[in-house]
Parts: sequence; C-alpha cells; structure tokens
Amino acid sequence: MIVLGLETTCDETAAAVVERDDDGRGRILSNVVFSQIDEHAAFGGVVPEIAARAHVEILDGLIAQAMREAGRSFTTLDGVAAAAGPGLIGGLIVGLTTAKAIALVHEKPLLAVNHLEAHALTARLTNDLPFPYCLFLASGGHTQIVAVLGVGDYVRLGTTLDDAIGEAFDKTAKVLGLDYPGGPAVERTARDGDPERFALPRPMVGRPDANFSLSGLKTALRLEAEKCAPLSDQDVADLCASFQQAVADMVKDRLRAGLRLFREKFGQPMALVAAGGVASNQAIRKLLNASALDGGTVLVLPRPELCTDNGAMIAWAGAERLAYGLTDTLDTAPKPRWPLDRVRKPAEPGLGLTGDPVSA
Ligand code: KG4
Ligand code: ZN
Repeated sequence: MIVLGLETTCDETAAAVVERDDDGRGRILSNVVFSQIDEHAAFGGVVPEIAARAHVEILDGLIAQAMREAGRSFTTLDGVAAAAGPGLIGGLIVGLTTAKAIALVHEKPLLAVNHLEAHALTARLTNDLPFPYCLFLASGGHTQIVAVLGVGDYVRLGTTLDDAIGEAFDKTAKVLGLDYPGGPAVERTARDGDPERFALPRPMVGRPDANFSLSGLKTALRLEAEKCAPLSDQDVADLCASFQQAVADMVKDRLRAGLRLFREKFGQPMALVAAGGVASNQAIRKLLNASALDGGTVLVLPRPELCTDNGAMIAWAGAERLAYGLTDTLDTAPKPRWPLDRVRKPAEPGLGLTGDPVSA
C-alpha cells in the first residue's frame, strides 16, 4: 500500500510517501519538510494567518518533490492522507482540500488523519511494534500519556492541567530572550549551564495520577530570571539547564505513574514510545533511555526528525487506517479541536490487542 501524506496543522508544511506491506511493515519512500520558522521568528511565535498563506504557497511544490523523490505518480497511489486536525484552521483547510483534490482527480481513497494519532502510530512505521503500548506524547500543543490499544483505539491516562511541555520550553525561551522555537534554543543553551543552580519546583511529582502541570515551574523560572536581572550569558545557561532538569525529573516521575496505571488497566505494555517535538530533546531522550522498564517492556524512540511534525507520520497513519478500510468522504470537515479518543475505530474494536488487520 502506497500512501501520500500531507501535514499542515501548524508551522511545518510537509509531504511524504510511505509504503506499508501486507505484514504491516513500513518504509519511507520520501519525506519532505519545510519549516516556516523564518516567517514566524520575528513575531516570537506562530502567526496563524502567515502560516496558512505559507502552506498555500509551498504545498504544491513539496508534493511534487515528495512524489518525484519516491519515484511515484499519483496513479500508483493507494490513498491520499492529510492531517484534518487538531490544529490551526487555515492550515488544516489548505492540507485537507489539497488531499481531497488529488483523491478526487485520481479516484483514490481519502484519509482524514488525526495529527495526534499520527504521532501515536509513528513508532510502528520505524519498528515492528505490536499493540498495546504506552505513548508519551509531548509537543507544542499537547502533553499526554496514552494507552495505544490498536488503530483508532486510544485511552488517555494522563494529560497536562495547563501548559504543554513544548509550550513551556517556548515561553521559557521568550522570557530569557532566546530564539523561537524555544525547545531547541533552550536545549542548546542548557549545554553550558548548571542544572542545580536554581531550585525550581517539580510540579505533580509523587502524585498517583499521571497528569502534568507546567505553569508553576514557568512562573518560578520567570521569578528567578527577574531576581538575577540583568542576565549574563551564564545566568541564562544556568536557568535553561535548571528548567530542563526540572522538566526531565517531572517527566520521569509522571511516566512511572502512567506506566503503573497502564499495567493496572491493560496489563504489561509491549513498549514505552515517545513522540512529539519534545521527544527530540536529548536530555529527555537520555532519561528515557535510562528508565528502568520491567516485564519485557521495551523503549521505542523514533528518530528526532520523525518526532517533530512531518508528512511521513500522516501518510503512515493513513496507511494504517486504510488497512482497516477506514476511509473518509470528500465532504469531511477539518477539525481544529479533535481529541485522540474521538477518532473513528475499526468496526471490530480491540482487534489491535491481538494482532494486525488483514490487508485491505
Ligand atoms: O510535535 P511538534 O513538532 O509540533 C506540534 O505538534 O506542536 O512540537 C513542537 C514543540 C515546540 O513547542 C518546540 O519548542 C518543542 O516541540 N521542541 C522541543 C525540542 N524541539 C522541539 N522542546 C524541547 N527540546 C527540543 N529539542
Ligand atoms: Zn505534532
């Protein structure tokens, strides 16, 4: 099965072609990402109108490039997938309408993919990974621990009560006068810093639920920065390192709670999987690598470029859904809000717990 996937939910415009074989194994044939960072940098964050316009301008060219690099023509596709939500409405309209046009003209099935589901299933593109597994999803808009039971079958075990982790990195960068996007800038700056200089709080640590909270940490960081002002380069590096360490400590504790909840409800997970932009952070990857996982649970960390937004994850989620015949009609509307537990399930839910779908 060969599927084209389009990603336009936020500030990355991306197109990719992936293949899913009859045994459910995946292969990336092309994966083209254009980051709009330069267009938004001056504003210190994503400007929805600028994002939508940039998607319109660049998407056609990216699709042509992805098809060329994959050595494919539209007629050889088995499906066309686009992220239909959650995300910024302008971008969603651009990606979904483009996918509909290609699907209509070439008489191919349309797959309207949930962006979070695409993050959730990426590990199965790169690894031969059976269900069920525990997902740690941490991006600019979402921070969740999810039981991934099968395609379309997700149970949220924990979420953030306020900011997403990526958002907290972005705001920290802004307070400290670092570049946008904040995550990579804070990580880079933290390399020269002392993670123990500032005693920042570790919200939620020790609680039996698997939720997150970032706002107290964010405020504590701002107050420390104000106390030290004017900030030297070393102050900024120490603040970044201390912030990153606090986040890492919280993630470690929250994942321990999430995995315990998972075992209580669904038994031993096959894997702990990390996804989303924050999962490309080396300090967080290191802590995940060092986590003691028991009972045969393995750690699966997709490559950093597959953790941040990309077209391959959309194409792959489309292929996984196509294998179940979960196609969408051409009147499908984009959904700016679309929780993971509201995606359509296969007719026989729970299939994923025992194995993979028969090929479509
Ligand atoms: O998954 P993603 O590419 O897009 C969303 O769906 O949001 O995640 C982007 C978020 C941003 O908030 C960005 O600052 C954060 O992920 N991020 C990082 C790193 N790279 C990206 N956060 C911490 N460390 C990083 N290296
Ligand atoms: Zn994302």
